Amino acid sequence: MDQTEHLKVAFITPEMAPLAKTGGLADVTGALPKYLSRSGQLEVTVWLPFYREIKKKNLNLKLVATNLKLDIFPAESQKNFSIFEYQTEDFKVYLVQNDFYFDRDYLYGTPEGDYPDNGHRFAFFCLAALTGFKLINWIPDLIHAHDWQSALTLAYLKHVLATDGLYQKTRSLFTIHNLAYQGLFPPEILGQVGLPGYLFNPEDMEFYGRVNYLKAGLLYSEAISTVSPTYSQEIQTPEFGFGLDGVLRKRSERLFGILNGIDYQEWNPATDPALPAHYSRQSPAGKFLCRQELLRSFNFDAQSKQPIVGLVSRLAGQKGFDLLVKSLDEILKRDLYLIILGTGEKKIQDMLIQAVRKYPQKLGLKIAFDDRLARLIYAGSDFFLIPSRYEPCGLTQMYSLRYGTIPIVRSTGGLKDSVQEFNPQRLEGNGFLFEEYETLSLLAALDRALGFYQQKPFWAKLKDNAFRCDFSWEKSALNYYELYLKILRF
Ligand code: ADP
Ligand code: GLC
Repeated sequence: MDQTEHLKVAFITPEMAPLAKTGGLADVTGALPKYLSRSGQLEVTVWLPFYREIKKKNLNLKLVATNLKLDIFPAESQKNFSIFEYQTEDFKVYLVQNDFYFDRDYLYGTPEGDYPDNGHRFAFFCLAALTGFKLINWIPDLIHAHDWQSALTLAYLKHVLATDGLYQKTRSLFTIHNLAYQGLFPPEILGQVGLPGYLFNPEDMEFYGRVNYLKAGLLYSEAISTVSPTYSQEIQTPEFGFGLDGVLRKRSERLFGILNGIDYQEWNPATDPALPAHYSRQSPAGKFLCRQELLRSFNFDAQSKQPIVGLVSRLAGQKGFDLLVKSLDEILKRDLYLIILGTGEKKIQDMLIQAVRKYPQKLGLKIAFDDRLARLIYAGSDFFLIPSRYEPCGLTQMYSLRYGTIPIVRSTGGLKDSVQEFNPQRLEGNGFLFEEYETLSLLAALDRALGFYQQKPFWAKLKDNAFRCDFSWEKSALNYYELYLKILRF
């Protein structure tokens, strides 16, 4: 890179807020490029499939190129693509359009399961993005790929395009947002997506008889990062390694942990248009009105003084719903409301629907993806519960704190790196943690939390500590920038 030029970084990602989102990955890829661009040192572009969800938004798009073809894909409908450009305030987004692959109801699959051709869909996306760089005449200094859906960019770069002079200087960072989702497909897929068959061996992409896309990201990148320092350590152990801990240990010199931030502009109780009233640390009164609105929207008594425990989450095994449901009888013996918003696995939905039938007076449930309601829950709740089995980073504890709501979390991954147990002697700490994935441990944390809720001076201090936390992106964006520079020197 010429010193006078900006460092060019291409984000390859299967989701980005606010265009297409199923979880925290979208929040990160929507915010980090913004803060990197604002540093003035980098030029960032984001590459994303053109999903139906994005089409419906009728954005102001510029057609960059059309009638493009990836000949290795069989039928006409599966070869063709176009590229559209979308200009955000701070950076450009490039959308890869192929309606056969991406014009569908969901991003990855229905509540019943994944789309069976996900292996082809995301291989197509990766190869199209690499083709796109040439078309827009913008060869990145660094590719920053996120999660298994983007990992094949690095396999193509290393094993198919290695002789292409254009990419000679392009380096890469692969970020693991969640090691549990790996993209596993039958061996034949390699040939079908234009990758050499010799990659089907244990030193490469083979994984217990199948092809593992995520492994390509781990092996063919110059460096790997995870979204919290604790998770970068945890995944090197068999307990959290999902079969890849050995691979990660081998690359531990090149494995880094950078804690996510949140977008303080987009998530601000003083301005959030989703809220019925606004508030801040200095003038917190509006939070009470949010609380009343939240109680009303679940048909609970808006005048009630009982604390509200909120929970907003994908309904997935990772998030601890088996522990929650097992503990519900005990939790709901306490004077509190529990309000849950989530979508995802049908099995978990059914368990929760059954629980609401049993506790209609105290348990509120909405099965939906509803950003507006999520924000009302962050604002209107007193506590926010995250009983995750594992958590690479977790953003919901950070949103809660930003909205003056106290997290009660399992001590794992990024939860451990962002929540500190409240200490009544020193008046420090911003929440409550529990270690064991067990009812007794969860209840003990809940009871400590409820105890301080009753003691006004402690409660006021806790909330003040919450408001004073700083998870803004500026610091983490700087960490990424430094890591990019380090990678270019490898
Ligand atoms: P993960 O990425 O594992 O789902 P995170 O805590 O990193 O977990 O991020 C979750 C993000 O998704 C947050 O922005 C949260 O508000 C949002 N979210 C999760 N479930 C819902 C839902 N049902 N409705 C609205 N937003 C949701
Ligand atoms: C993943 C993780 C979550 C993390 C998010 C953003 O979805 O499950 O913990 O916060 O990615 O990095």
